[in-house]
Amino acid sequence: MALFPIKTEVSKDGHLVIGGCDTVKLVKEYGTPLYVFDENTLRNMAREFKDEFTQRYEDTNIVYASKAFLSRWTASILKEEGIGLDVVSAGEYSIAESVDFPKDMIYLHGNNKSVEELKTALRNRFARIVVDGFDELKLLAKLAEEMACMPDILLRITPGVDAHTHQHITTGVSGSKFGFPLFDAPKAVSMAMSLESLNLVGLHCHIGSLINETQPYMEAIDVMLDFAAQMGEKYGFELEELDIGGGFPVRYTVNSPNVRIADYAEAIVSRLISRCNSLDISLPLLTIEPGRAIVARAGVALYQVGMTKDISGLKRYVSIDGGMADNIRPALYQAEYEAVLANKADENDIEVVTIAGKYCESGDILIKQIKLPIVTYGDIVAVPVCGAYCLPMASNYNASLKPAVITVKEGTARIIRQRDTLQDLIRKDLL
Ligand SMILES: Cc1ncc(COP(=O)(O)O)c(C=O)c1O
Repeated sequence: MALFPIKTEVSKDGHLVIGGCDTVKLVKEYGTPLYVFDENTLRNMAREFKDEFTQRYEDTNIVYASKAFLSRWTASILKEEGIGLDVVSAGEYSIAESVDFPKDMIYLHGNNKSVEELKTALRNRFARIVVDGFDELKLLAKLAEEMACMPDILLRITPGVDAHTHQHITTGVSGSKFGFPLFDAPKAVSMAMSLESLNLVGLHCHIGSLINETQPYMEAIDVMLDFAAQMGEKYGFELEELDIGGGFPVRYTVNSPNVRIADYAEAIVSRLISRCNSLDISLPLLTIEPGRAIVARAGVALYQVGMTKDISGLKRYVSIDGGMADNIRPALYQAEYEAVLANKADENDIEVVTIAGKYCESGDILIKQIKLPIVTYGDIVAVPVCGAYCLPMASNYNASLKPAVITVKEGTARIIRQRDTLQDLIRKDLL
């Protein structure tokens, strides 16, 4: 149960129990596919980040990357936990705004922010606008002048560090679509400093996601601080804030490394302090932007088994009523998952099966090989660590209905997103 939300148990009748709620009963009430989020796990992760970093470095600012999973519920919980929010679109901001998320704790990101999105950030005095390129720098300066304001900005720099992760989630290497490449960064700093309507407070980098070792962070910190020191000498730039992005890992399978946020906090903070000291620059505000690591473990996907198929001597397919429309990660990144049968959680694993999604793509395979108890029609498959980058990337492929989402806490379940209805599918599809 190590991958499931904290305090996940098996009841006397062999049912998986999350947040004090019997998942078999949840499925009866809400149907499948069903995404279940455990509130205590979400809060715990937010607190772990806060505690591990601030006890080592008080001047740390934790900003949740809302692309990992944003809903009005997530935003409300993180607001209560005193965590900031990184948004990349007017849509993400509108969700935050609907729960009165403090605007001065919002960071705006994105490589192609619209004029309206920039104006919204200026009008609402977001904490930071993270500028991604020269066009944006000029446009933002003009808008800020017109709106008579002076936003605090960070420049996103591509530090040329390889995070040794999947190529689709590597962002820190040269040639990335994000940020200023290092060779252009001096020009960006001098331009930003000369634009009177902008207040350049620091630098940002994000080197990738699911970074299973601390070394790439060390390299990125070195590159960013060395660069800041050079800019200090050349232009008198003072680094007030260093934002090192997100990318903190989570365990998706029992074989993936058992990482501790404490190790990352220790490595990052000690490198930051020692490098600043050796470069003789002041210690900046440290900002981190974890997304996945805060929300992934809190979420569990529940599916119902339909048809099974034996391809003699080769494999046994077990088809579920969800798949790539609610979780594209296996098809997109070859992501691996574990699963248990929620209604047979006390039975021994006996047969190796392939869990197939129901969508019309051969690549719609949720789990290639997994050992489970004997699987029969109607069994419930529970897949842990589905809290991040599943629902935000969900689609209506094959005109499927996006799943319902519920939260659980100490025996109480609450629906926070209703399942799409057939009516939803045709509501906006005009003849
Ligand atoms: C700028 C930025 N910050 C933070 C994140 C969050 O990354 P993760 O969910 O891996 O922590 C991302 C993810 O793409 C990002 O682009």
